[in-house]
Amino acid sequence: MNSANQSLKPISTRINDSGHLEIGGIDLIELVQKYDTPLYVLDEETIRAVCNDYKKAFKSYSKINMMYASKALCNLAVSKIISDEGFGFDVVSAGELYTVYKSGADMSKVIFNGNNKSFDELSLAIKLGVGRISVDNFFELSLLNEIAKSYNINVDILLRITPGIECHTHEYIQTGYLDSKFGFDLSQIDEAVELITERYSNIRLHGFHAHVGSQIFETSIFPDEIEILIKEIAHVKKKYGLELDEINIGGGLGVKYTNDDNPPSIYDIAELIINKLLECVDKYKVKSPYLYIEPGRSIISCAGVTLYTIGSSKKVPDGTLYYAIDGGMADNPRPSLYQACYSAQLANKPDSNAVNKVTIAGRYCESGDILIKDINLPEIEEGDILCVYNTGAYNYSMASNYNRVPKSAMVLVNNSQSDIIVKRETLDDIISHDLIPGRLKDE
Ligand code: LLP
Repeated sequence: MNSANQSLKPISTRINDSGHLEIGGIDLIELVQKYDTPLYVLDEETIRAVCNDYKKAFKSYSKINMMYASKALCNLAVSKIISDEGFGFDVVSAGELYTVYKSGADMSKVIFNGNNKSFDELSLAIKLGVGRISVDNFFELSLLNEIAKSYNINVDILLRITPGIECHTHEYIQTGYLDSKFGFDLSQIDEAVELITERYSNIRLHGFHAHVGSQIFETSIFPDEIEILIKEIAHVKKKYGLELDEINIGGGLGVKYTNDDNPPSIYDIAELIINKLLECVDKYKVKSPYLYIEPGRSIISCAGVTLYTIGSSKKVPDGTLYYAIDGGMADNPRPSLYQACYSAQLANKPDSNAVNKVTIAGRYCESGDILIKDINLPEIEEGDILCVYNTGAYNYSMASNYNRVPKSAMVLVNNSQSDIIVKRETLDDIISHDLIPGRLKDE
């Protein structure tokens, strides 16, 4: 069965009677007239559809804990929608933790990840009552025990391990290979377990956590990871008599950025995961564990598009035709960071024939700020609105103020309603944290 992460566009996308692109029942050209560009647009129906795909796909395994990886896109409205869908959250900073908390989420369904959590962040996590902390290294284990002791409480943890699995995604978004900066090496697990059982009396270990990488299309990765995690659970049971019953397999399922991408369906992945889990429970003779999954990109990416206004153009001697937009690497750093490819259409004339191969350049002062290389689009005129698909994940969450450009606004659309969920930054916002020392001030 197909799932919404396999869609290039938000599922409510259509061409309306005015010949414009429409998402969530809202004409994108009218949206631009109201809120200006660049504009992030999120389709609530698509977010909820993917959440439902995950819930249905894992329904047969009752001990499932769905956590949304909020690093993909974190703000109050998105957190509210996703917690209403019954998901918990993977957070990796005080900022994400605080946002999720303020959105009203159930903090017992939050897991705190990260390879260098600070004293203050761990303390905040404990104070806000997060359900699990995924401890990444020996330093953190000892720090966390000290903090828990000072509060006179026990903290519930998983150990983040490096499973030694490589996946074929961009090297910057692989995390499970042996030399990764994340997690305990498999050879360090015994020492960690001994420290917890013999010395760190304020720490309660529940299981293991791993995450192999992101934008993964290879279906074998997840079963391989499960086997490694269950094997470790069996090892700890045999050696220490400790029955752990939780595994967290991270996130990573891919999405469709262009027509060449064929990400697996959530239903197929879930079936593979559940079958492998049942097989391993039997093979290694362990209790069937609670299974955590932490999808980020596959939940939010295709719900999002970004709208830009096309401005200047230039033809260079090699024949490349550049069109510049009013955004670029500061609102979507993925093409310059990972050579990521995107698809787009003109929102004001999506039906016109694609007659030109063009390159879409960003507005930032950097030659590498190219949003889309060689895309076929209709005849472009100044003022046309470009709709770039699949920008929900790792765009807004990785945005910067490079060149002191105010960050874009975000609008949520659904059932012919549009609501601002992140306000556009103003020029005063840009200078709001700047200070001129008194001694530099004019008399
Ligand atoms: N869990 C852990 C521990 C993670 O490190 C990540 C992503 C996820 C879950 C969610 O993975 P997802 O389902 O979104 O693939 N900025 C990069 C992606 C970095 C992903 C980092 N970790 C990009 O734009 O492609």
